[in-house]
Amino acid sequence: MAEAQVSSTSKNIIVSGGAQGIGRALGRYFLEAGHRVFILDIQENELEYAATKHLEKYYKDGKVGYAVCNLRDVNDIRSKVEQAAKFFDGKIDVLVNNGGIASPKWKDDKTMESKETYDQWVAYMETNLTAPFAMSQACIPYMKHREADSDNSEGAHKDFAGPCIIHIGSFRAHQSDPNQEGYAASKSGQLGLMQAMSISLGPLGIRTNLVAPGRIKVAHESKEGDEGGATWEGQNSEKDIDDHPTNRAGRPKDIADACLYLINAGFVNGVDITVDGGALRKKAG
Ligand SMILES: NC(=O)c1ccc[n+]([C@@H]2O[C@H](COP(=O)([O-])OP(=O)(O)OC[C@H]3O[C@@H](n4cnc5c(N)ncnc54)[C@H](O)[C@@H]3O)[C@@H](O)[C@H]2O)c1
Repeated sequence: MAEAQVSSTSKNIIVSGGAQGIGRALGRYFLEAGHRVFILDIQENELEYAATKHLEKYYKDGKVGYAVCNLRDVNDIRSKVEQAAKFFDGKIDVLVNNGGIASPKWKDDKTMESKETYDQWVAYMETNLTAPFAMSQACIPYMKHREADSDNSEGAHKDFAGPCIIHIGSFRAHQSDPNQEGYAASKSGQLGLMQAMSISLGPLGIRTNLVAPGRIKVAHESKEGDEGGATWEGQNSEKDIDDHPTNRAGRPKDIADACLYLINAGFVNGVDITVDGGALRKKAG
């Protein structure tokens, strides 16, 4: 790997769950925007493919790092964030807590009356809510304001917007389908976490916001999708056109655009940006 040429506007960004789906696209769009990216994911093969093949040209330039990490293991999180910080020479600018698990309903058509759903509930909470807390906690020492930042000439975070944390939530925090308590509650919990962090981390110079995707088609953002020639267009159905006032389902780029906005939005803190093509509004009406 070559030594990365880093411009003064380039930021060091960690993306969790970045081997496929929205996370893979986030990494790519961040790299296209001139940033450096460190990707964490539990799927070893998919992760290696994403970092070294899908993002090959950036990887060869030393702009992509990656590590296998189980977001349900706090010790793993701590050691992999340390590895990412080393890759970034001790300075993390942005953390995107994207990794998560989702399902339209409890397995085997159970309802919450069934005690069998308890383990799934715990998995949702640990992956979608506890992990963003633990990831953020591990990153803070490498993100927070330093004396050198006050200096106008040099300093790790001398840019206007400063460091930030973005949680990838879900529109399901606001509108659940039946039998989706685990997912909906974990995503609503992220809203509370984001709001609390936006207040507590202010003195450290770290902004915290949340991007809540609606229905985003992601099957093309994977090794299998690449090999099978999958496209975003091929995943849009008549129902997607009917369900969205924007006449389409979401693209991973829609989420990347919102994140890139937040990364540069120095006066935006504690905000939930719902990116759902107006689907929630349509249902309400
Ligand atoms: N796609 C959508 O329509 C949609 C809608 C609302 C919210 N979201 C949210 O966006 C985020 C990304 O979703 P996606 O659709 O790309 O899903 P995805 O399943 O394609 O990607 C999620 C990634 O997280 C990783 N992951 C899961 N558990 C992990 C663990 N324990 N440790 C490490 N990595 C783990 C997976 O390996 C995968 O690469 C999630 O937080 C999801 O809840 C997605």
